[in-house]
Amino acid sequence: MNENSKPSSPQGLGMSRRDLLSVAGTALAASVPLAAISQSLPTGRSVGAASVSTSPTDISRTRRLGALEVSSIGLGCMSASAYFLPLPGRQRMIAVIRAAVEHGVTFFDTAEIYGPFVNEELVGEALAPFRNEVTIATKFGFAYQDGKPTGARNSRPEHIRQAVDGSLKRLKVDVIDLLYQHRVDPDVPIEDVAGTVKDLVKAGKVKHFGLSEPGPNTLRRAHAELTVAAVQNEYSFMERSPEGDILSICEELGIGFVPWGPVARGFLTGRFGEGTRFGSDDHRSTIPRFLPDNMKANMAFFGVVSRWAERKGVTTAQFSLAWLMAQKPWIVPIPGTTDPWHLAENLGAAAVRLTADELRQIAADLAQAPVVGPRVSNPATTHNGVEARRR
Ligand SMILES: NC(=O)c1ccc[n+]([C@@H]2O[C@H](COP(=O)([O-])OP(=O)(O)OC[C@H]3O[C@@H](n4cnc5c(N)ncnc54)[C@H](OP(=O)(O)O)[C@@H]3O)[C@@H](O)[C@H]2O)c1
Repeated sequence: MNENSKPSSPQGLGMSRRDLLSVAGTALAASVPLAAISQSLPTGRSVGAASVSTSPTDISRTRRLGALEVSSIGLGCMSASAYFLPLPGRQRMIAVIRAAVEHGVTFFDTAEIYGPFVNEELVGEALAPFRNEVTIATKFGFAYQDGKPTGARNSRPEHIRQAVDGSLKRLKVDVIDLLYQHRVDPDVPIEDVAGTVKDLVKAGKVKHFGLSEPGPNTLRRAHAELTVAAVQNEYSFMERSPEGDILSICEELGIGFVPWGPVARGFLTGRFGEGTRFGSDDHRSTIPRFLPDNMKANMAFFGVVSRWAERKGVTTAQFSLAWLMAQKPWIVPIPGTTDPWHLAENLGAAAVRLTADELRQIAADLAQAPVVGPRVSNPATTHNGVEARRR
């Protein structure tokens, strides 16, 4: 990055830009003890005295999502404006996003529904100075009334066109780099959705097309109509469903894969314990596998992850992200964080290597401690496998 293009000091972080960069640099510098940042982590948890062999260029090694080329780890921006509490505050999140750019992240994820709307505005503002260096992904697919989500899906062509115009305005960009359908609309044939996005590509408003949580047939039908660059599904040690059909279809068709929830909404970072309870306004209070009894049972599963991380000399967040990246070279996780220390830690995952033997052993060990509880309370509506109806 050109030194002159760096933003002015971030505000609202409670630290100077120089401090922030030195923290992030600590996690990225060659063979620096992670203990150095662990002492400063706001959660106070230990990340061990391990060292990570990494260099500032690790994160900049790019990966391909179809025809797109992005950093090997992206940044999920959702929790800046919604779902997980406490919210960070606008200036703090803008500084976190800009720190990510400074450290080589070129892939940023937002959506119309996050907020709704305000997350796109924040991401647009944060990335405006770097517009030509970054890939911004956003999503459409939900219905609104008087500016509020109704809970229904809506991928009707006129609604997609309207959503795209709104996203372009809020992101303050001329073109959307990657546009996902956020959830399959069972009432709209996917050919109509892909055809509408194809027209938007022709009109110069969209560059690449993606799908989030599609069923296998929908994915194939969409790709036949318009090349799908990336599928974005939940995927982590805790949620392995893409290992069914979806990853093999991606491989067959040359589609990239973007795991959302790659640290299982924080669970895989070790920040939760048996006694963790979420307030009713934190989305995690609705996730069955985080309900008290399941959380307790899932600590055995976390123990496996934790022992492996220790063996590798890295944090559980780094180990979880490295494992995802080791599955396929076209997988690009987008851990969500609103915290500069966590960002630095997560980017350190790009330097962690796992051998084929280790991957086999990890799989065998995980099979001994299955995850208890589903990822969503109503799989019929939100689980992948929902297919668009045929024309
Ligand atoms: N397509 C979809 O349907 C869909 C659904 C959900 C999310 N997404 C996208 O995927 C992104 C990531 O998913 P997600 O945010 O739901 O889940 P996630 O990345 O698995 O977890 C995010 C949570 O983990 C915490 N965290 C992250 N790194 C940490 C670290 N090193 N140490 C301690 N805590 C850490 C974050 O808290 P801090 O802020 O405190 O770090 C946050 O609470 C989102 O931002 C969004 O862009 C897409």
